[in-house]
Amino acid sequence: MPIKGRFMNGTIVPIIAGNWKMNGLIEQLAEISNLDNMLEQMQHKAGHIIICPPATLLNMAKKCAKYGQISFGGQNCHWEERGAHTGDISAEMLADCGALYVILGHSERRMEHGETDEIVQKKVGAAFRAKLTPIICVGESEKERKANMAVEKVLSQIKNSLPSEAKNNKIIIAYEPIWAIGTGLVPTLDEIKEMHQKIREQLVNLFGEHGMQYPILYGGSMKPDNAKNILSIKNVNGGLVGGASLKTSEFIKIIKALDEI
Ligand code: PGA
Repeated sequence: MPIKGRFMNGTIVPIIAGNWKMNGLIEQLAEISNLDNMLEQMQHKAGHIIICPPATLLNMAKKCAKYGQISFGGQNCHWEERGAHTGDISAEMLADCGALYVILGHSERRMEHGETDEIVQKKVGAAFRAKLTPIICVGESEKERKANMAVEKVLSQIKNSLPSEAKNNKIIIAYEPIWAIGTGLVPTLDEIKEMHQKIREQLVNLFGEHGMQYPILYGGSMKPDNAKNILSIKNVNGGLVGGASLKTSEFIKIIKALDEI
């Protein structure tokens, strides 16, 4: 895929990923076919588009994207391949439904389901086993940001949530400050720049030159009106978008922001 603008000389293809969370019934699949049609019509080439719908829609969503302009991902998986884990879904099951990606360690899962870095690390290993690319979420709370602990927190999450096999696999990191998720608040551009730079350094510390290849997405109240500024920051290789990904009319504006960079 030819990559335009600022990303042309870099090896990282920018990514805009939509995280639908626990939203979406069968009728919302129309949003997927609309998006796929629009991307086809505008001959979109500036980056890679991913939607992570609820697992119940994954297989149908894949079929709705008939031009193949969208890749799909799950929002969570168990670390085991199969077995007595009522209500859980394995990475292999997501792959079987057409997923290529899986979001892991989202702060909502860390908070509502007590997922620790250790658990996230096991899940990342499961994603590799099923040949899924994990989108690993990290981010500080408001309290940690105010106490100047944000960088420390995020770097330790990265260190402890990634298994050593990450070196031989594709991974995507999503920096999502918890206080910015769904609130309309966003860090300043300088704060985002600083954090993404530190994350890049941490990835290089841990994985050598491989650490230069991993996309680092920003997430937390990314909207059409702030996307261009955020996506223009060095070491921001795309976005993980919650609320604004649910409506194609909004999401497409964020995708178009990539073309303007
Ligand atoms: P938001 O969510 O864009 O609605 O803030 C982002 C996320 O939680 O991935």
